[in-house]
Amino acid sequence: MSAAAHIPVMVDETIKALAVQPGGRYVDCTLGGGGHAAVILEHSSPGGQLLGIDADPEAIATARQSLEPYGDSVLLVNDNFVNLEAICYKYDFLPVHGILFDLGLSSLQLDESGRGFSFQQRAPLDMRFDPSQKVSAADIVNTYSEAELANLIYTYGEESASRQIARRIVQERPIKTTLELAQTVERAVGGRRGRIHPATKTFQALRIAVNHELETLESALKQAVNLLGYEGRLVVISYHSLEDRIVKQFMQQEARDCICPPSVPTCVCGHKASLRIINKRVIVPSPEEVTRNPRSRSAKLRAAERIMPQDEHYNLVEQLGSSPEVKTRGNGWRRPSLLRMLRSVFNAA
Ligand SMILES: C[S@@+](CC[C@H](N)C(=O)[O-])C[C@H]1O[C@@H](n2cnc3c(N)ncnc32)[C@H](O)[C@@H]1O
Repeated sequence: MSAAAHIPVMVDETIKALAVQPGGRYVDCTLGGGGHAAVILEHSSPGGQLLGIDADPEAIATARQSLEPYGDSVLLVNDNFVNLEAICYKYDFLPVHGILFDLGLSSLQLDESGRGFSFQQRAPLDMRFDPSQKVSAADIVNTYSEAELANLIYTYGEESASRQIARRIVQERPIKTTLELAQTVERAVGGRRGRIHPATKTFQALRIAVNHELETLESALKQAVNLLGYEGRLVVISYHSLEDRIVKQFMQQEARDCICPPSVPTCVCGHKASLRIINKRVIVPSPEEVTRNPRSRSAKLRAAERIMPQDEHYNLVEQLGSSPEVKTRGNGWRRPSLLRMLRSVFNAA
């Protein structure tokens, strides 16, 4: 492994949460260096297939090399996972047994000079996962108003000194490099406090904004559920509280039949649960893993399983005139969209 190689986080926990099985079909929405992807392919052999997505063309190139031994079992797509459903339809890759999101950025991106993700090396202020995207961190830092910057750093960085930092940025711009920005933030907050560099939260905020990370995650989670077959697994590893909150709330909401506010006496939303939460408590890396790979320390894993919405299940059972055990009898693998089609045929008859 080279010094810059990315070490995949919570590998055993991920494989278990995805319930990887031979012959299964999996989507890795954040391919990175292909570490998780390779282990998924190992466990899904023989016959397993993996569709790997990454917005960064360099990640795709690296993973193409490392996954070469898996030949035709792998399909790699350089795209944003916000287009997850369209990608899977385009390659007829559905329904799937499991979908993985290992969010954020890889060690390859963090350590590579020139990408602008790290405040420890001089680089242009870039931070785009996809270099063809128009807006970079430098555009935001040098064109947003002081109030917009303060708001962004507070919201996406959860930084209490956001106003001082925004004021100083506006005074000192143009700011062109990562080191210039890191020094500006240090001056704004009056030097270093503790072990964490004072620019950590500002850099996080900018990266989230540049890549629209929270909006794309929300959209992709919804799409993922539609692609999962019956009992298919959704597994998400997040690295900061804003992402983890979105994942947690999404899974909790999708695991409920009614999402009306508590003040509404009778359900008016008609929402049906589509997921069952697998781990009630968030899974974190073991102390041994954190010692071995300190970058894993903030990782949080959540997993859920696709269930058939109650009405869909019971309508089908009624129409087929069979017993409710129909759900558990087969091989545990159903395609919800096929069931929907079947139901519409029965309804039309
Ligand atoms: C933590 S790394 C994944 C590492 C990977 N699991 C491994 O084992 O090597 C996250 C990857 O997700 C990619 N990424 C982040 N947001 C993305 C998005 N919205 N669409 C596609 N790829 C994204 C990044 O470019 C990065 O390569």
